[in-house]
Amino acid sequence: MARTGADEAGPRHVAIIMDGNGRWAQSRGRPRLFGHHAGARRVREIVEACPDLGVSYLTIFAFSTENWKRTQTEVAGLMSLFRRYIMKEMQDFVREDVRVRFIGDRYRLEPRLRELMEEAEAMTTHCARLNLTIAINYGGRDEVARATRRLARDVAEGRLDPETVDEQTLPRYLDTRVLPDPDLVIRTSGEARISNFLLWQSAYSEYEFIDTLWPDFTREVFASVLAQYSTRERRFGAVTA
Ligand code: FPP
Repeated sequence: MARTGADEAGPRHVAIIMDGNGRWAQSRGRPRLFGHHAGARRVREIVEACPDLGVSYLTIFAFSTENWKRTQTEVAGLMSLFRRYIMKEMQDFVREDVRVRFIGDRYRLEPRLRELMEEAEAMTTHCARLNLTIAINYGGRDEVARATRRLARDVAEGRLDPETVDEQTLPRYLDTRVLPDPDLVIRTSGEARISNFLLWQSAYSEYEFIDTLWPDFTREVFASVLAQYSTRERRFGAVTA
């Protein structure tokens, strides 16, 4: 069946819930952080693959507002991995023309990580080949609550007329305000949940839940998921002849 979306060649914006690092490590008798490190190497591979596969926006879920409930060792290990990842990749992003952005509530993150995030964003503002958005301390409900708080402040201070608030207004207050909505959301590891990811933005996204654990998610697996998307018809609620 032909798709009715504007993006005939494939999804322009892909969002990924990278799940299964812990199980991947445990099945090898290794600590969970070993799986997260393997997961970080896959992020690099998928970032590299995107431009060749026609994807110009990639949004990845690295740490949710609920992930603080993991052990202190795992949380600290992930924060250290994010710091090292940004430090290591920053120059490569510039060279590969990848614009990096972060979404989520960054004010709860340690100052050093926040600084690195800001540095990576500033260093890549001119980059345009791929828009990579990394969600850290991100939760869809938290994002909508923070957006609503800012919107309410604008109403209270007379900058916004409440009678004009419609579906186009709230997205201007979301962390994703400059991004298009995702065409496709992929979740790895066999779980069929959205876990508070891009709740507002994915209203009309296609979903692919695949069994592969994130550290096994190769460029080839990615290409096959995109090919599967291309066979779908996107109707956005409409009925065509
Ligand atoms: C979910 O798997 C994964 C995470 C909570 C962390 C995602 C982080 C990475 C892929 C690391 C690299 C990311 C960047 C941006 C450098 P899980 O631990 O819940 O796996 P499980 O369900 O098997 O326990």
